[in-house]
Amino acid sequence: MLSGFARDFLAALATRPRSISPKYFYDVEGSRLFDRICELPEYYPTRTELGILERSVGEMAALAGPAAEIVEFGAGSLRKVRLLLQAFDAPARYLPIDISGDHLRDAAAILRTEFAGLDVQPVVADYTQQFVLPPPAGRGRRVGFFPGSTLGNFTPEESLAFLGRAAQVLRGGALLLGADLVKDPQVLHAAYNDAQGVTAAFNLNLLARANRELGANFVIPQFAHYAFYNAPLQRIEMHLVSLARQDVTLCGERFGFEEGESLHTENSYKFTVAGLRDLAGRAGFRAGPVWTDPQRLFSVHWLHAP
Ligand code: AVJ
Repeated sequence: MLSGFARDFLAALATRPRSISPKYFYDVEGSRLFDRICELPEYYPTRTELGILERSVGEMAALAGPAAEIVEFGAGSLRKVRLLLQAFDAPARYLPIDISGDHLRDAAAILRTEFAGLDVQPVVADYTQQFVLPPPAGRGRRVGFFPGSTLGNFTPEESLAFLGRAAQVLRGGALLLGADLVKDPQVLHAAYNDAQGVTAAFNLNLLARANRELGANFVIPQFAHYAFYNAPLQRIEMHLVSLARQDVTLCGERFGFEEGESLHTENSYKFTVAGLRDLAGRAGFRAGPVWTDPQRLFSVHWLHAP
């Protein structure tokens, strides 16, 4: 039987223009490269969002109230949610939702030892699809947490659909959402074209992963990392561009690449504060306080779910 990765990669190669979901970046090697991206001098989002959370987590805790239940969409880095768990007033429960069960179990085990008395209940699910959560446990508010501007990977239509489902799941509570902001295109360009080439390696790892897992025969040096800011669409696009005319075999099928032909691997949408608040409003949230850094590189939003 074909894996989701195999099915989606075959479909990507059979379609023009070619594109594949960025969720396939994150195998063990890809996750390691992403952690390195977060440390790069050019990649401002991670450290900027952490700074905003550190500075304003007291206000966030007051909005959350006592015995809150934190629902995290994706169990990424523990660093961010740890700030909330430390600052909130006796958080009752932590529900991380992730497709990777292994990842979830590791995160859950660490947090259970760090926060005695915290009920940690991992939910193995794809949060981009319809999913069910256990019923709210106690008297506290349900607070969703979606940091990192991962929302930027969705198209505007997908974002609206995701936020609409989140508003339902979080009814009576709120969503704490991190969103990267539009800014000088040079700053955006540099963040996805770092001098050390880590983002290039992250992008090209998708082909290496296909070689490892799908028995593909991509010749990695025959493809170039290409990332640019598409200003009219307010998004960074990442592509892998074929440097020559070549054939590739994947799952026993042969596919041709023309010289210059691209495989679109990621969109990373950027937002204005007003645009994000409007989008949230259309999805059923009532926009609350918003925090940014002094340079207005990144934003964190409190969105009430009525
Ligand atoms: C994890 C989707 C927020 O879009 O900035 C980083 C992924 N891609 N460098 C982003 C990413 C290239 C990241 N997100």
